[in-house]
Amino acid sequence: MGLYQDHIVPVLINLAMRRQELVAYRSHVIPAAEGRVLEIGVGSGLNLPFYSRNVERLVGLDPSPKLLSMVRRNLKRNASPVELIEGSAEAIPLKTNSVDTVVTTWTLCSIPDADCALREMHRVLRPGGHLLFVEHGRAPESNVRWWQDRLTPVWKRIGGGCHLNRAIQVLIEDAGFQFDRLETGYIHGPNPLTFMYEGSARPR
Ligand SMILES: C[S@@+](CC[C@H](N)C(=O)[O-])C[C@H]1O[C@@H](n2cnc3c(N)ncnc32)[C@H](O)[C@@H]1O
Repeated sequence: MGLYQDHIVPVLINLAMRRQELVAYRSHVIPAAEGRVLEIGVGSGLNLPFYSRNVERLVGLDPSPKLLSMVRRNLKRNASPVELIEGSAEAIPLKTNSVDTVVTTWTLCSIPDADCALREMHRVLRPGGHLLFVEHGRAPESNVRWWQDRLTPVWKRIGGGCHLNRAIQVLIEDAGFQFDRLETGYIHGPNPLTFMYEGSARPR
C-alpha cells in the first residue's frame, strides 16, 4: 500500500470528515441505531459520540490500522464499550442475522466491491433490522455525472479509493434492501463531490 495510503490518507480522512456540515447528518442518522450495532468503515470514530443508550453492543469494522488506532485513542477518553475489528466489509466476520443495525457513513464510496459489501451487510442483519446510511454519490444531473465519471479515476487514487460516481440508491436496492426513508440533495461544495444520500433501509 505504501506510506501515502497507509499513513497520509488516514490523517486526511480524519481531517476531512470533521467538517461541520457533516455533523448535522451524523446527529440526524446515528441516534436511530439500536441493539447490536455494526459500523462499517468506522474511520477515526467520528460517529461514536452520536450513538444513544439504546445501543447494546457496538462493533466498528475498518481495514485501516491507522484509523483504528485513532479510534482507540479517543475511546480512552470516552470509555464507551466498542469492539474494533480490522477487516473488510466484503467479508464481515460476524454471524448471519446477528446484528440489529448496520451503519455506514461516507464509506460505500471507498469499498472496492460495494455490491459484495452490501450483500454482506444484508446477511448479518436480522430480518427487520436496519441499515442506516449517509453516503455521497451519483448526481441526478447529466452534466455533474459527466464530471463525476471523469474525475473518479484520479480522485480514487488520491482519495483512499473514493468513487464519486456510485449510484448509492441502486446499489442498496440491488443488494436486497427496501427503503424506509431516503433523502437526497447537495451540501455546500463542488457538485461532483457533494450529492448526498441519507436514510434507512431494511432487508426485503
Ligand atoms: C471517507 S472515510 C469515512 C469514515 C467514517 N465512516 C466517517 O463517517 O467519518 C471511508 C472509510 O471507509 C473505510 N473503508 C475503505 N475500504 C473499506 C472496506 N473494504 N471495508 C470497510 N471499510 C472500508 C476507510 O478505511 C475509511 O475509514
